[in-house]
Amino acid sequence: MAGRTIEKSDYEALCEEIWEHNRLYYLENQPVISDYKYDELLQQLQEIEQEHPEWITPSSPTQRVGEMVSGAFPQVNHKVPMLSLANTYEKKEVSLFIERVYKLLKTKDISFTAELKMDGTAVSITYEKGRLTRGATRGNGRKGDEITSNIRTIRNLPLQLSGSLVPDHLEVRGEVYLPRKAFLDLNTEREATGEPLWANPRNAAAGSLKLLNPREAGRRPLHIAFYGIAEDSSGTIATQMAGFELLEALGLPRIQEALLCHTFDEIWAFIERVAALRRGLPFEIDGVVIKVNDLALQKKLGVTGKSPRWATAYKFAPEQAVTRLNEITVQVGRTGVVTPVAELQPILLAGSTIARATLHNEDEIKRRDIRVGDLVTIEKGGDVIPKVVGPLLEERPPNTHPWQMPGLCPSCHTSLIREEGFAATLCPNHASCPEQNFRKILYFASRVAMDIEHLGEKVTEQLMAKGFISRLSDIYTLTEEQLLQLPNFKQKAAQNLLAGIERSKQAPLPQFLMALGIPHVGAATAELIARKVGSIDNLFDLSPHDLLSIGGIGEIVANSILTYLDNPANRDEINVLRSHGVHPTPVILPEAEGHPFNGKTFVLTGTLERHTRDAAAALIKERGGKVTGSVSHKTSYLLAGEAPGSKLAKAEELKVPILTEAEFEAML
Ligand code: IVH
Repeated sequence: MAGRTIEKSDYEALCEEIWEHNRLYYLENQPVISDYKYDELLQQLQEIEQEHPEWITPSSPTQRVGEMVSGAFPQVNHKVPMLSLANTYEKKEVSLFIERVYKLLKTKDISFTAELKMDGTAVSITYEKGRLTRGATRGNGRKGDEITSNIRTIRNLPLQLSGSLVPDHLEVRGEVYLPRKAFLDLNTEREATGEPLWANPRNAAAGSLKLLNPREAGRRPLHIAFYGIAEDSSGTIATQMAGFELLEALGLPRIQEALLCHTFDEIWAFIERVAALRRGLPFEIDGVVIKVNDLALQKKLGVTGKSPRWATAYKFAPEQAVTRLNEITVQVGRTGVVTPVAELQPILLAGSTIARATLHNEDEIKRRDIRVGDLVTIEKGGDVIPKVVGPLLEERPPNTHPWQMPGLCPSCHTSLIREEGFAATLCPNHASCPEQNFRKILYFASRVAMDIEHLGEKVTEQLMAKGFISRLSDIYTLTEEQLLQLPNFKQKAAQNLLAGIERSKQAPLPQFLMALGIPHVGAATAELIARKVGSIDNLFDLSPHDLLSIGGIGEIVANSILTYLDNPANRDEINVLRSHGVHPTPVILPEAEGHPFNGKTFVLTGTLERHTRDAAAALIKERGGKVTGSVSHKTSYLLAGEAPGSKLAKAEELKVPILTEAEFEAML
C-alpha cells in the first residue's frame, strides 16, 4: 500500500478481507491463504491503524479477541467480559509474572492455582434457577454468538444443576473440546469419505459449535470443562479453588487438574509433571494456566488491555524432530487445488510415525527455501497434520536445487495455473481431470454431503476404472447389471448401494449444496444459502446482492458461488441431476411448526440493539415467517428499533402491531 494515500475505504476493505479470512479459517476450516500471508495482512492493518487511530472501530479484526462472531447467530452481550490470557513459552516469564504479582500486592504471601489449559474453544453458560438458559461463544470478548441449541448437545453438560447450593443466577465459563479419540475418529471418517480434515481438535470443536444445524452438532461428541465463575448470585465464593468446589457440588464438569501452589517452585514442578503426562491424557492441552487464588486480590490486580494481571498461561512448545526430505510430491484435491506434500524419511514424533507432512503451497516452500535432500525440522503442535518448519541450512547436501511446482497436473497433464492474489496452484480442468472427479464424487457421496452409503473410495475407484461413472450425475445412472461386474460385488451389495443412491435423491438442501463441491462452501455457508433460496428451484436466481445480504458471506465466497453457478457445465450438471430425480428437501426448520411467527409477514425498521437486521430476519425465517420491505395491509408485525423511519407512521396508520426488540425476543 506504500506510495499512495490510504483512504478510509481501503482500510475498511482490508478489515472486511481479514474478516473473510477469519471466517474461512474458523467457520469453514478452509483457509485460502497461508498463516504467513494472513499475518502480513494483519500487520498492514495495524500499521494503518497506527496512522489513523480515529478509524478504528470495535469491529476491526485487531480489536477482537481471536475468535469469530459468525453473523448467522443472534448476538449476546457478556456482562462480565471474556478476557484472553497473556501467554509465554519461557520459564523465566512465569517467575516474572509471580514477582509482578508480589510487587503489585506488596506481599509474598499469595497463593496461586495451576490448572490445565484445555485446548478448545471458550464458552459462557448461564443457569437461571438451576436451568440452563443460555450458551454463548466468546466472540470479541464483549459480544458473542448465542449458540444455546448447540451447547445443549454437549455430552457431559447438565441442563439442570443439582445439589443443595443451586444459586438463582449463575454464569460459568469453560472450554468446549473434542476428546483426542473422538477427534481422530472424526478425521478418519472424513478421510475415508474424502472430506477435508480438521486441522486440530480446537478447530473441530469451534467449527462444530457453530454449525447452524444443532442435530449435526449433536453428532460430534463435544465435551466441556469449566474453569471459572463469572457471576454467582449467592456470592459465597472467595477463591478460585472454592469456585471449583462449587462447580463440583452443582454437578458441573470442571478442569480436572488444578493445584493450589504457594511458591514458584511448586508451580514449576506442576508444569513439569503435566508436560510429562500430557501425551497420555485423553484430551489436548496446550499449557498450564496460573491464577491468583483469592478473588478479591484478582479484582485488586485488575486488567490490562485484553488480559488480566492476575493470570498467565505457560504454553508448551510444539514437539519437533529432524528427518530427511526424500521427495516433494503434489496432490490434486476436489476443487483442483494442488498441494505439495513432503515425503519424509519415516520418524517418530509425539507418539506416531510420520512419513508425510503438508507443505501448504509454493510460496511457503520458496520462502523457507525447502529443497529435496534437505534435513528438515518437522513439528506437531495441537495439529494432527505435521508441519515442515524449515531446512537445516548448514546441513544442506551439495547439488540441491530450489523446488519447482510442476507445470502440468499429475493426473490429467493440463497446465497448472495460479490466480493473482491467491496462494494456491490450480488444475483448471475441473470438468474432466480424473483425480479431481474422483475426489469430487467421493465428497459428493460422503456423510456430510449426499450421504450415499456404500459408495466409498474403493467402489468409486472401480466404477471409474470401468468407465461407469466420471461425473456426479453418472451415479444416478448406475444399474444392478453394471455393479455386478465389479470384483466381489454380489447381488445384495449391489442392491444396498442402489438403495443408498435412491435415498440420497431426497437429501436435505444444505447437504446437496455442499455436495456440489463449490470452492469455499462448507457446511455453514451451504446452510446459509439453503435458507436464503428455500428450494433448489431458486438456486439459479441468486444475485450478488442476495448473497452479500446474507450475514456471514463476504466477497470471496459470494464470487466463488456466482462463478460456479455461471458456468454452463455446472448448471448443466445440476439440471441433469434433477432430471435423474434428485430433489433435495428444502430446509424445514423444526422451530417453525406452531410458532407464532409461522406464516406471518414482518417489516423491520430502525436499528436494533442486540441483532443485526440479517440476524433478526434469519430468526423470523427460521420460525416460518417472512420479511418484506414495506408496510401494507398484509404486514403482520413491524419490528421497530432505534430511530425508526417512516414505516412506523405507516404501521400506526394501518394499525399493524408494532414490536419492540424486547417483545420480539420474548416471542422468539
Ligand atoms: S482462564 C481471564 N483457565 O484459554 C482468564 N482459561 O488463552 C480467562 N483456557 O479463553 C481464562 N483452559 O478459552 C482459563 N484453566 C483455564 C483454561 C483456559 C483453557 C482457554 C480459555 C481462554 C484461553 C486463554
